[in-house]
Amino acid sequence: MTILVTGATGNVGGAVLDALHARGLPVRALSRGARDWPAGVEGVSGDLGEPSTLSGLADDVDGVFLLAGYDGNATLLEALPATARVALLSSSAAPSGDRTNVIARYNIDAEELVRGSGQPWTVVRPNAFMSNALRWKAQLDEGDVVRGPWGDIAVATIDPADLGEIIAIALTEDGHEGATYRVSGPQQLLPAEQLAILGAALGRDLTWESQTLGETRAELEAQMPTEYVDAFFAFYVDGLIDETTVQSDAERVLGRPPRTFADWARRHAGDFSSA
Ligand SMILES: NC(=O)c1ccc[n+]([C@@H]2O[C@H](COP(=O)([O-])OP(=O)(O)OC[C@H]3O[C@@H](n4cnc5c(N)ncnc54)[C@H](OP(=O)(O)O)[C@@H]3O)[C@@H](O)[C@H]2O)c1
Repeated sequence: MTILVTGATGNVGGAVLDALHARGLPVRALSRGARDWPAGVEGVSGDLGEPSTLSGLADDVDGVFLLAGYDGNATLLEALPATARVALLSSSAAPSGDRTNVIARYNIDAEELVRGSGQPWTVVRPNAFMSNALRWKAQLDEGDVVRGPWGDIAVATIDPADLGEIIAIALTEDGHEGATYRVSGPQQLLPAEQLAILGAALGRDLTWESQTLGETRAELEAQMPTEYVDAFFAFYVDGLIDETTVQSDAERVLGRPPRTFADWARRHAGDFSSA
């Protein structure tokens, strides 16, 4: 049994790879560049935005993990053997059904493609990831204050390691075909509460400062097209998505409570060292 993992160098794809590897399963890991992969992992190169680079990567696999938003997904799905399972990482935006929101739209499109592929499929709709806290590293290298967006929104963030296990379960165990899982972490936390927990893991007393909406818009405009900035404002200002409610699907699939942010912070404390 070989599983193709796209996004394999990322937070979630890397966790999928780890979870499959821990089960002793052969993995084919896709990256745009050359990488050193652990023994038992076959690294392949390809660009999900350039479907012509993906030929031959999916036609002999038993399953594939896909990220939403890439043209190459259709190419991979068409090449799969008929029984190969598909797990798609979608988003908390998909349930809104709002195609006027660019992020919701590409996730809805990806879900529709997978559901219409004829393959056995599972869709996972996660909340924001605990690993987003890594975005605070540059500020934490400079001092003990983190200034960031959406300070009044409590989010039940999810550990990418749990997403990796949920996806590995969906790809390798029976009973998950045709399921759409809405998954979160175990507790809703304001950014200031997450930062305090991270501070405890780092042995530092950290202070949160909320950006104004104007500051947030200016910062995001410098990073991404305006329609994406508008999409995030629709999520967190207009309330298009609900990432505050703790969802039950992760615990049901994992057979245990999802990991806490304190656990993520302990495991990733080293990622915040500036050495
Ligand atoms: N952060 C959140 O809270 C959140 C919430 C819901 C959904 N998502 C979505 O979840 C996905 C995974 O997140 P993550 O944190 O694991 O991402 P990440 O750590 O930023 O990694 C992104 C991965 O995508 C791969 N990739 C990017 N463009 C590619 C391309 N054109 N062709 C092939 N591979 C490509 C990268 O591979 P190489 O660079 O090695 O080629 C890398 O492995 C993202 O697409 C994100 O939009 C994120």
